[in-house]
Amino acid sequence: MQIYFDQENQVSEELLETMKKAASLCVKKEGLDEDSCEVSVSFVSGDEIHTLNREYRGVDRVTDVLSFPQYEGADEIQDVIDMIGTCELGDVVICRDRARQQAEEFGHSFERELIYLFVHSILHLLGYDHMQEEEKKVMRAREEEIMDELGIPRRTDRKEEGEGALTEEQKTSLFRKAMEASRNAYAPYSHYHVGAALLAEDGQIFTGVNVENASYPAGICAERSAGVQAVTAGYRKFTAIAVASPDGEASMCGVCRQFFTEFSKDMIVIYGEDEARLKAERLSALLPSDFVLPEKER
Ligand code: THU
Repeated sequence: MQIYFDQENQVSEELLETMKKAASLCVKKEGLDEDSCEVSVSFVSGDEIHTLNREYRGVDRVTDVLSFPQYEGADEIQDVIDMIGTCELGDVVICRDRARQQAEEFGHSFERELIYLFVHSILHLLGYDHMQEEEKKVMRAREEEIMDELGIPRRTDRKEEGEGALTEEQKTSLFRKAMEASRNAYAPYSHYHVGAALLAEDGQIFTGVNVENASYPAGICAERSAGVQAVTAGYRKFTAIAVASPDGEASMCGVCRQFFTEFSKDMIVIYGEDEARLKAERLSALLPSDFVLPEKER
């Protein structure tokens, strides 16, 4: 497989080699002859990718990776190869700094993030998409399969050692419970449905949903609705909370952060767009300066 890199000095030789392997795997899995396929890859700055994102997608913000496919999918690519012997699949544009930042956020290595983004982008060039729920599942499954075959370990939570450690499976399972709960969300005003699954120290799980009201401020977030149930049942120490929404990533709001910081500053907050891209962070990192009453007023 021929890859034309631009600004490749931004990453190590080793990483470039892994990218080549990753691209070959993606192509081979489509039944295409890797030697007949070509891809162009550019490493750009945050400002550059921001401009490209605005100009080509009408989205006015920095992003991690952009894909510019030439063809609809593997069948069309095969037709081109049959006709002229080679096929230029399209362009991948990656922002290394953004990848580094995301790796930090996800708590996994820069290598994993960069390769994941690259695989994601190559799959776009091969016709994959994630606009619809079904196609998203297919794309995510293929991404994971390729990451596994490349031997790049699944995300590991940097902060996993010590108290409150959770395995990837536990995080995924809690997130699933939150997503399931979101079906009962009452959100006729925002149409944003949220579910939360709160894991107490003894393994008990409480779920909650957002419950809105015609008097808007009377509504409550999913996290706190799980929290009040747990406290009502006598629980005050929590290991983790997962927050999920079928309507896009739900990041715990400031009020909920403060609510839980009262009980367990070190609990792990799990959230993300979907199961394959979960983020896990300590509450104390999400709310470094929590409010506590001055001692004298207690
Ligand atoms: N919401 C939650 O339930 N949890 C969050 O972490 C963010 C926001 C709800 C509140 C409201 O019902 C709707 O989402 C839109 O703000």
